[in-house]
Amino acid sequence: MHGQGLPEVAYLALNPGPPLWYDRRMELARRVARIGESATLEVSRRAKALKAQGEEVLDLSAGEPDFASPRVAVEAARQALAQGKTKYTDGRGIPELRRALAQRFAGEYGAPWSEDQVQITTGGKMSLFELFEALVDRGGRVVMPSPYWVSFPEQVRFAGGEPVMVPMRSETGFAIEAQPLIDAIDEKTRAVLVNSPGNPTGGVIAAEELRRVAEACRDRGIVLIADETYERLVYGTASHASVAALAAEMAETVILVGSFSKTYAMTGWRIGYVLGPSPLLKALTKIQSHSTSNPTTFAMYGALAALAGAEEEVRANLSEFAARRTLLVERLGQLTGVTCASPDGAFYAFPDVSAHFRPGRSDSNGLAKYLLEEARVAVVPGAAFGSPNHIRLSFACSRETLTRALDRMAEALSG
Ligand SMILES: Cc1ncc(COP(=O)(O)O)c(C=O)c1O
Repeated sequence: MHGQGLPEVAYLALNPGPPLWYDRRMELARRVARIGESATLEVSRRAKALKAQGEEVLDLSAGEPDFASPRVAVEAARQALAQGKTKYTDGRGIPELRRALAQRFAGEYGAPWSEDQVQITTGGKMSLFELFEALVDRGGRVVMPSPYWVSFPEQVRFAGGEPVMVPMRSETGFAIEAQPLIDAIDEKTRAVLVNSPGNPTGGVIAAEELRRVAEACRDRGIVLIADETYERLVYGTASHASVAALAAEMAETVILVGSFSKTYAMTGWRIGYVLGPSPLLKALTKIQSHSTSNPTTFAMYGALAALAGAEEEVRANLSEFAARRTLLVERLGQLTGVTCASPDGAFYAFPDVSAHFRPGRSDSNGLAKYLLEEARVAVVPGAAFGSPNHIRLSFACSRETLTRALDRMAEALSG
């Protein structure tokens, strides 16, 4: 009997209280379960903890240039702020920057993209995110070479799609080859994604291979997304093959993603861009209008100034990167059992370190942890990029840091 003299059932019928589902625990959307935590986090967390304890960790894990942003960009952003350029803009970004990018790709490569076919985004990462949202339905596939940048498969999964990772050959330094990518296209494929110069391998795709992939995509009515975030960072005799050179011929099926982050050392400004066919750009504009809206207004003015007037700094940074690359590759070559192709682009070396696997450090995660604990050198395990025999070392740090890090690694791996 209940307190009011009523049987329990009758009481509940009269006083139903909150519905049972009020008590339900918070549930996360299924799409979050589809994506994993970055495999690089464990090492970077530990590196941070060691630094906080006052340990000197030599950090070769950074994915950003250590140089200052161009002076002209800083000054232009400062002026933009002073002039009150602090309001919303066109959702696609300021027309001046869209026009300048369209003109740049027209002038350099004869690309037909108009300023209406350019969208400025909150970093290149957001361009890619919006693209997968726009192109991939549930089960739609995106074909990409492996090793791959960590965010590619996760963004595809987040959109409900399926990344299809196609292994490239380590003997050729993971050079991106067209045929295996073409062979992986099937009726569910919505896009092929190529990143050149590439993170994590530093490899660049040859112009003929890029053309073959682009033609295969066009013939099958799917798109080719070219992530050209590292476009200006190429070394020696290597040259960058841009999809912009194919845009006049294959306007409906090629898409270019770029960024100010790496070329101009402007990572924190969060300015990227995407150029491609009009119907796609309209879709991206809708997505952006309901997500980030325009990228930060004064940052876009800074990017505009960088595009027009930072060439000297870009070249100076490039020659410093080139010197670091030579140093790093030479020092890696001196480590017994370590093999490393000389990266043609970006600012990463991606050596095979499997000869140094031992019990307790039997893969790239284990070896990265070992290097952190024993040598206080932070690197990124290749497993994060789909390549468990390798580690990624960034040369976006001083030559002194590289030299000391390699001294320490040589000692830690000598046993
Ligand atoms: C291959 C690749 N694409 C895109 C990006 C995105 O850069 P951001 O969002 O800073 O423009 C990165 C950054 O690390 C990258 O490595």
